[in-house]
Amino acid sequence: MTPERLPTIGILGAGSLGSAVARALAQAGIKAVIANSRAPASLRALVADIGGSISAGTREQAANCELVIVAINWSKLPAALSNLSPWNRRIVVDANNSIEAPLFQPVDLKGRTSSEVFTELVPGARVVKAFNHLSPELIAGDPQAEGGRRVLFYSGDDPVARATVGGLIARIGFFGIDLGVLAVGARLAQFPGGVLPTHNLVRFA
Ligand SMILES: NC(=O)c1ccc[n+]([C@@H]2O[C@H](COP(=O)([O-])OP(=O)(O)OC[C@H]3O[C@@H](n4cnc5c(N)ncnc54)[C@H](OP(=O)(O)O)[C@@H]3O)[C@@H](O)[C@H]2O)c1
Repeated sequence: MTPERLPTIGILGAGSLGSAVARALAQAGIKAVIANSRAPASLRALVADIGGSISAGTREQAANCELVIVAINWSKLPAALSNLSPWNRRIVVDANNSIEAPLFQPVDLKGRTSSEVFTELVPGARVVKAFNHLSPELIAGDPQAEGGRRVLFYSGDDPVARATVGGLIARIGFFGIDLGVLAVGARLAQFPGGVLPTHNLVRFA
């Protein structure tokens, strides 16, 4: 897979963030399969509303894509990522934050980054941290509403996987900033704890 060719894309999680990512892809005409914990029929209304290039699938169908964006509640990640085919170096985007409704009590990560914990759930995958630092409304909205391009950060240990996600971010109209390896970038971008989340930055020129 080269950074120029878009991989097949699956989205695991069809809630606030997963559906926002699906909308962002659809607005750029990019195909993706989206899945939740239930049968694809439960997503009929959502995919009809998003329209076009997004289809509903099973958890397995989404996870078997070449690039899988994971947007699942932190406590439900182990179940959502279990009993799937071996990851075989497929790219997995960690869009998750280690905090969740209704209490919004940060999870004690014992000094690790949330991406380190996440990576253990997808052995053999090439993990890229992205799409986690803004609200779903900003992910689904016009990335060029202010005239420049809204910034998304991404980081990952595999340079090709990172470039692929960077290419996808550019294709959907955002300005991607490569934060380098997970040990650096994921720590900056994680919420809570990182300095970057919630900053809605726009790159001009
Ligand atoms: N919302 C935000 O503002 C925001 C911003 C940045 C990052 N994030 C991160 O994004 C992730 C998702 O948050 P969200 O707000 O989108 O949550 P959400 O609205 O509650 O949606 C969660 C999704 O995960 C699915 N899911 C749960 N267990 C599953 C399983 N075992 N298999 C497959 N799918 C499963 C749910 O499917 P069912 O409906 O079938 O249960 C639902 O589609 C979290 O890690 C969060 O921290 C959220």
